[in-house]
Amino acid sequence: MIPQNVIHKLREAKKVAVLTGAGISAESGVPTFRGAGGIWNKLKPEELANFEAFMRNTDVVWEWYNMRKELINNTQPNKGHYALVELEKIYGDEFTISTQNIDNLHQKAGNKNVYELHGNITRSYCIKCNKFHSDIKIDEKNRIPYCDCGGLIRPDVVWFGENLPEFELTKSIEAAENADVYFSIGTSGNVYPAAGLPSVAKRSGAFTIEINTERTLISDLFDVVLIGKSGDILPEIVKLLKEEVK
Ligand code: OAD
Repeated sequence: MIPQNVIHKLREAKKVAVLTGAGISAESGVPTFRGAGGIWNKLKPEELANFEAFMRNTDVVWEWYNMRKELINNTQPNKGHYALVELEKIYGDEFTISTQNIDNLHQKAGNKNVYELHGNITRSYCIKCNKFHSDIKIDEKNRIPYCDCGGLIRPDVVWFGENLPEFELTKSIEAAENADVYFSIGTSGNVYPAAGLPSVAKRSGAFTIEINTERTLISDLFDVVLIGKSGDILPEIVKLLKEEVK
């Protein structure tokens, strides 16, 4: 099922970089945004995932993020996440993950080199003094959280129309430019600049691999497209890689 050249390239590689999207967390029970059961099929991003919507309907936006935060707090990493921990053990500091996911599951699984391109739902910050908050509690009485300084607190996630965090994006571009092997896993390739990272890797000479349950908008650029669940394919790759290393 896994082409031999994938294992061969990984055996030769010194630097391996990965881009992940919602699909890698699907097997943990976190819904994706697009495709069957996708969040954006039922809810409008323009009503929930931008700053104007937050200022207009702060309590509704907080209720939604609070619901997602509770779901994610009760969610565990899956076999795909754990396989990426194994890859980090093999390549050490030369293994990086750039993730569009805000669900903290790569870190929960044990990966260290994770660049969060779209933020992290477990963090929030004050829009007035920028102080970070990690223990926001929303309930019927307190539907909108405020900072000690009186400022409104927002989730530390990137909304439509906002810039990505500069450090994370720079590091992700560097990782794509320097990678010998580049993976794009469980992302539909709809949202830029993240969706542009695989082509940066490809232009810079990386061997590029896509893992997804279906072909995507960007499938054509990859050297190899592996169709299937990341929770099946990634452990298989790690197994084959370890067998060859013996
Ligand atoms: P999408 O929901 O757009 O795409 C998820 C992809 O995962 C799809 O291509 C699915 O085919 C694939 N998939 C589903 N289950 C899978 C599995 N078990 N194994 C492998 N692949 C699987 O999610 P993203 O590409 O991450 O942005 O979306 C990008 C951004 O759009 C998100 O970060 C979010 C959203 O709006 C913001 O909120 C800023």
